[in-house]
Amino acid sequence: MRRSLVVGNWKMMGSRAGVTKLLEELKGYLVASDRASIAICPPYVFLPQVSEDLRESGLRWGSQNLSQYDEGAFTGEVSASMLKDFGCDYTIVGHSERRSLFGEGDADVAAKFVAAQSARLTPILCVGESLQQRDSGDALEWVKQQIIAVVDVAGIDAFADAVVAYEPIWAIGTGKTATPEQAQQVHAHIRGVIASLHPGVADSLRILYGGSVKADNASELFANPDIDGALVGGASLIAADFAAICRAAE
Ligand code: PGA
Repeated sequence: MRRSLVVGNWKMMGSRAGVTKLLEELKGYLVASDRASIAICPPYVFLPQVSEDLRESGLRWGSQNLSQYDEGAFTGEVSASMLKDFGCDYTIVGHSERRSLFGEGDADVAAKFVAAQSARLTPILCVGESLQQRDSGDALEWVKQQIIAVVDVAGIDAFADAVVAYEPIWAIGTGKTATPEQAQQVHAHIRGVIASLHPGVADSLRILYGGSVKADNASELFANPDIDGALVGGASLIAADFAAICRAAE
């Protein structure tokens, strides 16, 4: 039985005062549960505050990105070991906004995945197709190639300590959600790709859905056998909505 995971991706949103309020509200709504893990990924600068405020809460946290390098003259970068130092358990790698807006390619994503694991952070590897790729029938092959690009560098065993998030680009921040059937089809495909290389790893791999997950569509997504939780953007900034999504995953 895979334990569900719900991760809030705050993106580049928030302020000190706003984060203080949101964390208070989240702690009010959410208690640690045996059935689902819950984590938030704030902007880097809020990690000290998050790590203090959530220390006793049972909620976990991570980053939205990391450097592929360990240490050195890399202005503006943050390393995996720094994130670990602030208590991060997770880091998102290869989010489509990083890929499309900041030019991260498969090689960068794979290097970040490896860097995360070397500091014992669990990478949440994002994959997903554009609308054009979906319309031309290329979605499954595209997603497979994104996974294989990381397997080729990190090895299949590395997926025993990783999470995959399927995030169709056309559904991110658009209010358009993949139907449960569309999402389940791609999730089953991802699990199949991993299973063809290592069935045991595929069985335990958590595959999250991301793309306009809301309080009112979470349950029908989570009802599918290969959807093990969610990576939530916009709705993770509203404590009551995020809590409702987390409860749906329990
Ligand atoms: P969204 O974002 O829930 O706002 O669509 C999801 C994501 O980018 O992870």
